[in-house]
Amino acid sequence: MTRCIAFHSYKGGTGKSTIGSNMAALMAKRGLKVVLLDLDVYAPSLQGYFHWAPKKWINDFLFENAEADEILEDLTHILKKFPAPGSSDDEIKGTFLVGFSNTSKDEIYRLDGAVRQESSKVQLLRKFINLREEIADDHEADYLIIDTSPGIRYWSINALAVADTILLSLKMDGIDIEGTRIMAREIYDNFTKLGTVSHLLLNRVAGYCLPPSLNKGQISETGFDSQSYSVVLDEQSTAIKKLSTDLNLQVICSIPCYCDIQFNSEEYLTVLNHPNHPFTAKINELIDSFESTKG
Ligand SMILES: Nc1ncnc2c1ncn2[C@@H]1O[C@H](COP(=O)(O)OP(=O)(O)O)[C@@H](O)[C@H]1O
Ligand SMILES: [Mg+2]
Repeated sequence: MTRCIAFHSYKGGTGKSTIGSNMAALMAKRGLKVVLLDLDVYAPSLQGYFHWAPKKWINDFLFENAEADEILEDLTHILKKFPAPGSSDDEIKGTFLVGFSNTSKDEIYRLDGAVRQESSKVQLLRKFINLREEIADDHEADYLIIDTSPGIRYWSINALAVADTILLSLKMDGIDIEGTRIMAREIYDNFTKLGTVSHLLLNRVAGYCLPPSLNKGQISETGFDSQSYSVVLDEQSTAIKKLSTDLNLQVICSIPCYCDIQFNSEEYLTVLNHPNHPFTAKINELIDSFESTKG
């Protein structure tokens, strides 16, 4: 059975595309059949991320100008560039298919215009549901991972509606707790009643390259102050517990803020490029939590 996981957030820049792409690629590397869809139709980013020029776009499928097969680009060859030490290319058993959203301004406007008209809106939604079914039935994917737009947008809600699991990502620096709470209550609660499982995915938490707190304790010459560091970690852990209680959502994974990723002008599949990076360990942990609860 195909499990569908949607990455969503209230605000932008919380790591949906980064974590979604890395998780999808690592799942495939681990031998699973994975389809990743860019449903951030208003600001698509996966085409730039993978530097891939697709023949057809998700938009073409929605407007009946392409079949599902034509819009799912097979990027399994990327995994082969990163074989595990001592193994060969042939040992890669997984499949990695990606569906891209059209980045052209005209196509974004066209889709936006079409969902403003009741008649075409229903038709497009039906097509989207067909796509999910075809990925499950014809491709027999183990996982369908959907990257969405932040906030309450039409295609994000559609993605959440077809998902089994929603990952609500928050970055710890600059949470809009009130907005997130309203969104969780008004949207997620309805899906929960229908059996969808939602989790908090905390990103950019402290703990990896945390600078000393500016207003607590003394800052040493090296800039590191263990006393204020532990205060910050304590405060963060209290804040996380409160957040989880407030939103009534369990934390599935807490991913630290890695300055080497943040300052990399172009993060690209860190999980494959750096198998020993702690980010990779976190993404493996996230995948394990799905694999251990397989139906
Ligand atoms: N754990 C992390 N540590 C450091 N930088 C991160 C981390 N997660 C994401 N980023 C960076 O944050 C930026 C926003 O991430 P992105 O995945 O594009 O967010 P979203 O898709 O939610 O808008 C990117 O530059 C990405 O490299
Ligand atoms: Mg994104």
